[in-house]
Amino acid sequence: MAKLTFHGQSTFTVETDDGTRLVIDPFFDDNPVSDIKRADVGKVDYVLCTHGHYDHFVDAIPLCRETGATLISTFEIVSFAETQGIDGHPMHIGGGFDFPFGRVKMTAALHGGQVHGDVTGQFTTVPGGFLMHLDGKRIYHAGDTALLLDMQLLRGKVDVAILPIGDNFTMGPEDAVEAVGFIEPRVVIPVHYNTWPLIEQDPGYFADLVGERARVEVMQPGDVFVP
Ligand code: NI
Ligand code: MN
Repeated sequence: MAKLTFHGQSTFTVETDDGTRLVIDPFFDDNPVSDIKRADVGKVDYVLCTHGHYDHFVDAIPLCRETGATLISTFEIVSFAETQGIDGHPMHIGGGFDFPFGRVKMTAALHGGQVHGDVTGQFTTVPGGFLMHLDGKRIYHAGDTALLLDMQLLRGKVDVAILPIGDNFTMGPEDAVEAVGFIEPRVVIPVHYNTWPLIEQDPGYFADLVGERARVEVMQPGDVFVP
């Protein structure tokens, strides 16, 4: 069963049954709450980035360079990475692909499209999220996003929803609860909060709001969750 380890903000490492190791939205060395540094991540086969902002992308290119991992992200982000000598698998919103480790589909997000490190701005992208089928479980990492009616399209298709609750840059707790109502996941993992003062939130408050709608799994950096 796929094993998810949280590292703060929106960063996860995932290990599937076949031993494939994924990193989602790598933010290690400058992440004030991460339990590990980039050098401690170990073997990585694929790096998945929902969008190009610093706190989701800053360690992606170095991590791919250091581990030989393949970058999975939007066409623009992968194109930017290729200018830095990194191989990637370009995708885009609404498209899915059957990777050796499982299926990944990019989902819609409403957020900013700047790509960290792209000083020209020519690789500015549409941000997204990932719906991943891993070892028989359906895991949705929403990325950074506002509450979207489009999330209703995910109803009945998600076992574990990873949703931002930090407010200010993304959904806050109240909107994230509405997202839970749209998606109806079995488990929800709140992320993108308490990394900085601007996104301070009480995950217990969020859990209270969710109530009986889903099981809320509050993870601390370093915690492991098996769906
Ligand atoms: Ni962002
Ligand atoms: Mn962010």
